[in-house]
Amino acid sequence: MKKRFILINFKQYEKASLDRARNLLLEFSSIDIPSGLFLGFAVPAYDLFLKREFPNLGIISQHVDCAPFGAHTGQISMDALMKIGITGSLLNHSERRVSAENIKCTLRRAGESNFDIFLCVEGAEEARSYSEMGARFISYEPPELIGGDVSVSTAKPTVIEEVVSSCSGKGSTVLVGAGIKTPADVSKSIELGAGGVLVASGVVLAADPVKVLNGFIEAVR
Ligand code: G3P
Repeated sequence: MKKRFILINFKQYEKASLDRARNLLLEFSSIDIPSGLFLGFAVPAYDLFLKREFPNLGIISQHVDCAPFGAHTGQISMDALMKIGITGSLLNHSERRVSAENIKCTLRRAGESNFDIFLCVEGAEEARSYSEMGARFISYEPPELIGGDVSVSTAKPTVIEEVVSSCSGKGSTVLVGAGIKTPADVSKSIELGAGGVLVASGVVLAADPVKVLNGFIEAVR
């Protein structure tokens, strides 16, 4: 299968934090991951250490900073993440936007360190400019659909195609997210040219998160 990506953002949902993050990861570790699929779990900063308990799960950060080890307060260090085995992070999520200058610096450091940045954007123009800057993963999420029941693939098919075409030929893979709740939302996203999806409430708040996630995995095959 073509390389696909499903990223589950735990946000700071109480249901997916601390001991409950551990329980969820334990449940997710029973999932059979097909070859060619990267299944990522973006856990809150205070739960990143769980990577040591679940070394085989694709645990990623929800944010990362450019600053290296040193006198920097309140930052999430890429170097420290890599030391605990975490090799990827979301960046510039609508709920955690950062400056273009920071993005540029973090993309450069990530490129030097073989660290995956899943860079969130809110439209095709932003996608084009960061793709030209060398972003390997562009995650398009319209903020107004986040957390709702109407999926990006239903509400914004044309924008998804624009984002995909604005990144094509530049080596970036496009992921899409917001309002994804069903396998049909996932397969439609793939049909529109995305390489994967970014999902939070549809999985994390579901009565049976493993069942929902297995449905999504079937839909990207
Ligand atoms: O990062 C994923 C997220 O912002 C989408 O949230 O709840 O609409 O799947 P949700």
